[in-house]
Amino acid sequence: MNNHAHGAAYTIAENASLRTRNSFGVEARAALLVEVRRAEALAELMAFARFRTQAPLVLGAGSNILFTRDWPGVVLSLDTRGIEVLDDDGARLQLRVAAGERWHDFVLWSLAKGCRGLENLALIPGTVGAAPIQNIGAYGVEVAEFIVAVEAWDRDTGRLVTLTAAQCAFGYRDSLFKREVERWIVVAVRLALPRQRVLRTDYAGVGEELAAMGVRDPSAAQVAEAVMRLRTRKLPDPAVLGNAGSFFKNPLLATDAARALCARHPGLPCWPDHHGLAKLSAAWLVEQAGGKGLREGDAAVSQQHALVLVNHGNASGAQLWALAERVRAAVQARFGVVLEPEPRIV
Ligand code: EPU
Repeated sequence: MNNHAHGAAYTIAENASLRTRNSFGVEARAALLVEVRRAEALAELMAFARFRTQAPLVLGAGSNILFTRDWPGVVLSLDTRGIEVLDDDGARLQLRVAAGERWHDFVLWSLAKGCRGLENLALIPGTVGAAPIQNIGAYGVEVAEFIVAVEAWDRDTGRLVTLTAAQCAFGYRDSLFKREVERWIVVAVRLALPRQRVLRTDYAGVGEELAAMGVRDPSAAQVAEAVMRLRTRKLPDPAVLGNAGSFFKNPLLATDAARALCARHPGLPCWPDHHGLAKLSAAWLVEQAGGKGLREGDAAVSQQHALVLVNHGNASGAQLWALAERVRAAVQARFGVVLEPEPRIV
């Protein structure tokens, strides 16, 4: 099938293990694992009845997903590569990046080209294609700020479409693609990156890290370096200890409700959000509810960061999920706040 001089446009494996394809490192099997190397193959694959009748599970680097069971259908992995400069007017670069590119490599590429904007998003695991799905963010910056459009396969109409940033309806760790997860397959992301931009170093820890590095007037690369140091120190490395970054979203509450809660719990970090909402620190809530460091078998809440669930070796997805439920119940009982998981739960 489709074997040309450049190698197969896609490969298919039956009953494939996903253990090395999810950063929790839990065992789960896919009935069919389809790996797409060239984007053109997608239209051909999507014509098969199996794809039309049953949504495939689209897997990027597997760094934001928890498998609690096997996947009975198709797992689709887009390993397409390429960064194209669409336009460069001196002030900003317009780029098209294939879904399978590694996010962090792309960040470094953009900095080397003299672009600004993505420095705070250094070292986030995962692929470029996954970035818009949950609108990745860190240290006061979200990728949505730089996205011009997203090219995606629409399973409803059976066509490749280009959605504007407004159509993507980005929110905090949220987008159209996350809300309609069975409908879309992100193929490429178009971004506009400025050469001039005020660097954001106001998020807690970033300024301190730069000071510790002895830097007073940082370059974008130095901000990225500070972010990398912070992340390396604060978050467990998934290559060493299985995890998917933050396991819960920071809850958004109506400002009045948040204010009342913070009055009762003076230490609770709270940030104003848009539209009359306030964001609370989920990590703080988990820690105060006794969740930090909690362990059941190989499933645990990191001792480094209360928001990160870790697999000490042989935890199953179901065991990690059971622990997450326990943490969630403890937070709800103590604070009346319901935490929402951040990764995709299968
Ligand atoms: N805190 C605790 N206990 C802890 C850790 C943190 O009480 O164990 C409190 C501290 O008061 C701290 C506050 O929580 O000041 C915030 O902590 P942190 O700066 O680590 O950020 P976060 O809100 O826990 C969010 C993102 C991270 C992102 C960081 C930095 C979410 C769900 N998480 O975490 O994103 O790296 O901010 O910007 O929004 C991810 O999405 O996977 C992720 C790692």
